[in-house]
Amino acid sequence: MSTTPDPRLQGHAGPPRDRLGRLPRDLRISVTDRCNFRCTYCMPAEIFGRDFAFLPRSEILRYEEITRLAGIFVRLGVEKLRITGGEPTVRRDLPDLVRQLASIEGVRDLTLTTNGSALRTLAAPLADAGLHRVTVSLDSLDDAVFRAMSGIDMPLARVLDGIAAARAAGLAPVKINMVVRRGVNEASIVPMARWARDAGFILRYIEYMDVGTANGWRLDDVVPGAEIIALVDAAFPLEDLQPNYAGEVANRFRYLDGAGEIGVIASVTAPFCGACSRARLSAEGELFTCLFAAHGTDLRAPLRSGVDDAGLEARIRAAWGARDDRYSELRSASTVNLPRVEMFAIGG
Ligand code: GTP
Ligand code: 5AD
Ligand code: SF4
Ligand code: SF4
Repeated sequence: MSTTPDPRLQGHAGPPRDRLGRLPRDLRISVTDRCNFRCTYCMPAEIFGRDFAFLPRSEILRYEEITRLAGIFVRLGVEKLRITGGEPTVRRDLPDLVRQLASIEGVRDLTLTTNGSALRTLAAPLADAGLHRVTVSLDSLDDAVFRAMSGIDMPLARVLDGIAAARAAGLAPVKINMVVRRGVNEASIVPMARWARDAGFILRYIEYMDVGTANGWRLDDVVPGAEIIALVDAAFPLEDLQPNYAGEVANRFRYLDGAGEIGVIASVTAPFCGACSRARLSAEGELFTCLFAAHGTDLRAPLRSGVDDAGLEARIRAAWGARDDRYSELRSASTVNLPRVEMFAIGG
């Protein structure tokens, strides 16, 4: 075993462990709470209408502020940065943030989750700025189902063009996230697999989750991951794959005919809190240690009042060290109505 200390940790107390012994490896950065879509499972249009008060710009972290915090997280052991939203591409000059984050030493994976609507024009500038890859949300290839689930009157072709632009720009492997909802897009499960296989994208099916409190989630709306896999397996035979890394959220499978892989993110029927290494930074600078948390730790106030990096690091260490989150493992009928942050505020 190597005894060489990780150079990023020299002069520091070492990476912090939470109360369940988990280390922070993955920082998900929400750059805006706004989105140009109104997905029924995330920002239903009836609730997030014209009058909804999104964050004013003064309350949102500037790119320099995000980069400074991200640098501290990387010194604490984070290796993977994921830019999310809301929809991150609605924020101006996103490539500028990517360029800044890409310059942080120690970042092994720099990626973006997007609805794909802006990639036709943004993919190349994002790649030039140093983005490694993208994950695009897409719930159906049927135009009517796509429009119904995304709550917006936009042709599906615009997202498909964006996905093609991402690949052309080298943002690979392109992953596709499909949220599956009982009775809504179940019929899209196999067509999506066929399309992604043929095109060489990594499709991940996501069980519809009870994140936030706006989507009126019911267990009956969830299609269990095992059922999804059985449907795909019947059309294109599959075998299990080992995880790429400890704590990976997707269970992976490969096609026996060699046409690539798929994943299923079964956070309802098969929770994966045990190895959860994800920290989440909201657009206004709060650190959330769970997707289902009701409250975060404010990092913006200390940042803007002149606290130095050591002071910010101490706050992050304290928040992570106090963490005992394992919501998905504890989920029950009585947890569904607990208050919690909305998904679009911390980006999934
Ligand atoms: P890769 O780096 O490509 O493996 O992606 P990832 O594992 O970071 O997955 P991604 O960010 O695309 O997340 C996919 C989806 O999984 C999210 O949109 C969420 O729906 C769900 N998810 C991700 N992290 C968590 C988590 O910590 N808890 C729960 N319950 N769900 C999560
Ligand atoms: N359940 C599961 N996944 C969700 N996402 C948003 N809301 C939900 C939900 N309620 C997914 C989006 C996107 C990612 C950011 O989170 O489809 O891929
Ligand atoms: Fe927007 Fe993504 Fe939420 Fe859909 S899931 S409303 S694209 S933030
Ligand atoms: Fe991590 Fe919370 Fe998701 Fe469990 S429910 S995997 S603790 S974010």
